[in-house]
Amino acid sequence: MTHRLAVLLSGAGTNLQAILDAIATGDLPARVTLVLSNRAGAPGVARARRAGLPTAVIDHRDYPDREAFERAMIGRIDAAGADTVVLAGFMRILSPLFVRHYRGRLINIHPSLLPKYPGLDTHARALAAGDARHGCSLHFVTDELDGGPLIARAEVAVEQNDNVETLSKRVQQQEHSLYPRVLRWRAEGRLHLTDQGVELDGETLPASGLSPGTPA
Ligand code: GAR
Repeated sequence: MTHRLAVLLSGAGTNLQAILDAIATGDLPARVTLVLSNRAGAPGVARARRAGLPTAVIDHRDYPDREAFERAMIGRIDAAGADTVVLAGFMRILSPLFVRHYRGRLINIHPSLLPKYPGLDTHARALAAGDARHGCSLHFVTDELDGGPLIARAEVAVEQNDNVETLSKRVQQQEHSLYPRVLRWRAEGRLHLTDQGVELDGETLPASGLSPGTPA
């Protein structure tokens, strides 16, 4: 059966678009069975509707606490039968309740070379630190914020005259090729979270994850 993805987002949805493009070209043997957002006005929701995908808006402000919000999301995601839950710019912190429910099936993209710069404002922090390299990371989600086992990272060089806008744009280009690629590994049944760490094709990956130059 085709691998089913539920994509969670709060913003523009350019990563969702990259995933949909990869499905359309046959590079990603999966289908998106749900796009879920906590923000009704997120452009990513409009994007999903235009693509004819099932969408759901579950606004955290409508729930008395995080647990009730997350239980509502779990109900909707499980009804969509997701094999992998894809965090693509979903800007709410998820509690152990949610994270444990999807252990080994929940993947996040983060705009930094983790473990550097968990949290927000990653591009500004890399610029302020004078870093020569910056990038994005894909990881399985565990209880630790932006700290789960790394699957892959993609780097960009920081240029002399970069600002947040120019740097984030180049990082996003990397995100858009890396996310579909990693999801293809999932869809092909090659990528798993085990007690030893992240496993691809039966081999445990280094703690730093793969970089895109690595053949896979
Ligand atoms: C992406 O750059 C992603 O790395 C970041 O949000 C952006 C969403 O863009 N995620 C985080 O900051 C998570 N901590 P998009 O809506 O255009 O895909």
